[in-house]
Amino acid sequence: MLFGGFLQTRLTAYYSSKGKHILENAGKIAMEAIQNIQTVMQLTKESYFYNEYCEILNTIHRSSITRAHILSILFSITSAVVYFSTAAFISLGTFLVDRDTVTFEDMFLVLNAVVLAARTIGRELTLFPDYGRATEAATNIFTLLNQKPSIDNESKTGGEIVCEHFNGQIDFDHVYFNYPNRSESTVLKNFKLHIKSGQKIALVGTSGCGKSTTIQLIERFYGVNMGRLLIDSKDIRSLNLQWHRSQIAVVSQQPVLFDISIRENIAYGDNSRTDISLNEIIQVAKDANIHDFIQLLPNVSDYFFCYDKESIIFL
Ligand SMILES: Nc1ncnc2c1ncn2[C@@H]1O[C@H](COP(=O)(O)OP(=O)(O)OP(=O)(O)O)[C@@H](O)[C@H]1O
Ligand SMILES: [Mg+2]
Repeated sequence: MLFGGFLQTRLTAYYSSKGKHILENAGKIAMEAIQNIQTVMQLTKESYFYNEYCEILNTIHRSSITRAHILSILFSITSAVVYFSTAAFISLGTFLVDRDTVTFEDMFLVLNAVVLAARTIGRELTLFPDYGRATEAATNIFTLLNQKPSIDNESKTGGEIVCEHFNGQIDFDHVYFNYPNRSESTVLKNFKLHIKSGQKIALVGTSGCGKSTTIQLIERFYGVNMGRLLIDSKDIRSLNLQWHRSQIAVVSQQPVLFDISIRENIAYGDNSRTDISLNEIIQVAKDANIHDFIQLLPNVSDYFFCYDKESIIFL
């Protein structure tokens, strides 16, 4: 019985971990297709992604059926053992009573004790598969919770450069970088770049050559693998991360607007204050050349208007 229960636990844990990977892959395909639905439609690839998704789900369907069969056979054997052992015990008991080795009362006493114990153990063993699943789920949760990011966003360590001495000079000093999930492809190889304070530069290159990666390294979303990235001749790793990021303003390729008013969206640019006046907001909007556009939006008497999704795309 114990062996059966052990086997059930192991098998359940094995199948649920196998199923998890398959479901992850199916989820990835679905997310990819949904997120890029316009491109998918443009390329008329709807049925391709649909078939890929179904194919992966079929795999898990087949393995679920195999699992159900194996587990039910094991469950029935484990449960049947209780009844077979009761039968064997009664046969042995009656044989011993017949030979006057034990009394009838003693036989029933032992029989009841053994049957009760076996039933209890059997009942508990039915929980073994759940135990397997719970162990697997707990392992996943703890793995996630115990993960230590290589760059800690909350870190309070590292220095700041005082305002008067901060120039914003940037140096990529023989930098090598690859994304952690793509160790085989080096994006920056012995990359050298010197940007003087106040200098305006443009990174020009083919798609995928590493322009956005360079910016992400300056924002310190990733750390360089080899070489150094210097801000005002100080290694970026020695600077306080929150301070460093607060010195940078980025308008990304795909700007993100939060689902709140224009005023609040603009005010997010300055984390150091909460009392940013409307006049100041309008001034920066004028500087960024979007004030006239904002005025054209429907129902916008002031900057409290919330963008709808169409406006976000248009902007
Ligand atoms: N998060 C990521 N994980 C893994 N690889 C990535 C990631 N982001 C970008 N890459 C890869 O790194 C390389 C450089 O990408 P990057 O986005 O820096 O290029 P880019 O020059 O900005 O291109 P584009 O002109 O299309 O914006 C590409 O091969 C890209 O596929
Ligand atoms: Mg880019």
